[in-house]
Amino acid sequence: MNRFIILSVLFTVSYSISAQDIKLPAPDRVGGKPLMQALNERQSIRSYQDKELTLQQLSDLLWAANGFNRDDKRTVPTSNNRQELELYVTTKNGVYFYDARNHLLKEVKKGDYRVKAGSQDFVAHAALNLIFVSDLEKASNREAAHIDCGFVAQNVYLYCASEGLGAVVRASFDKSTLRELLNLPANQEVLLTQSVGYPD
Ligand SMILES: Cc1cc2nc3c(=O)[nH]c(=O)nc-3n(C[C@H](O)[C@H](O)[C@H](O)COP(=O)(O)O)c2cc1C
Repeated sequence: MNRFIILSVLFTVSYSISAQDIKLPAPDRVGGKPLMQALNERQSIRSYQDKELTLQQLSDLLWAANGFNRDDKRTVPTSNNRQELELYVTTKNGVYFYDARNHLLKEVKKGDYRVKAGSQDFVAHAALNLIFVSDLEKASNREAAHIDCGFVAQNVYLYCASEGLGAVVRASFDKSTLRELLNLPANQEVLLTQSVGYPD
């Protein structure tokens, strides 16, 4: 490839990623604790240090949760392969949409909105809160959407157990607050949330 083509490709890639997007490093697909050890250590944690995850941890977590492990399929199964579940993340710095296809975080809003992600005290200072959003027009049906969501949450639990991080899945959140925060259209709904961070 000559230099002109290389420069054109680099320009196109950087032009299509806006300054606010966070390009995640490639996930580490071979590391981590053995599965049986991670299962043995999986638990819900409700007390967190005020400490951010590294970009690599964020990358591994999101990929484990709902990333593509084949050309067009993911680390989780979905009913009829609808792939209707999307992840949003609130951190100290902003609210982001996980673009699984391009493995990057797209900024939705700048600023610390973690407190809006749930009613329990620890939510406001957990390193991140995941928000599970389902496209109910895309899903096989509502029941399947909830089942599909469970697989993602369990992958997060297992990744966290493997990485020495804490997590807790939460149904205690205000649907309309999160709908407004994420500016969701009528066909999308928040099904669940999950806090993640370093255990205190
Ligand atoms: C659908 C669902 C909703 C939950 N909602 C909450 C919640 O809002 N807040 C919370 O602290 N824990 C919540 N949990 C976590 C459970 O309380 C926890 O899994 C249970 O007590 C067992 O503890 P363990 O996860 O450590 O095994 C929820 C779990 C599930 C499966």
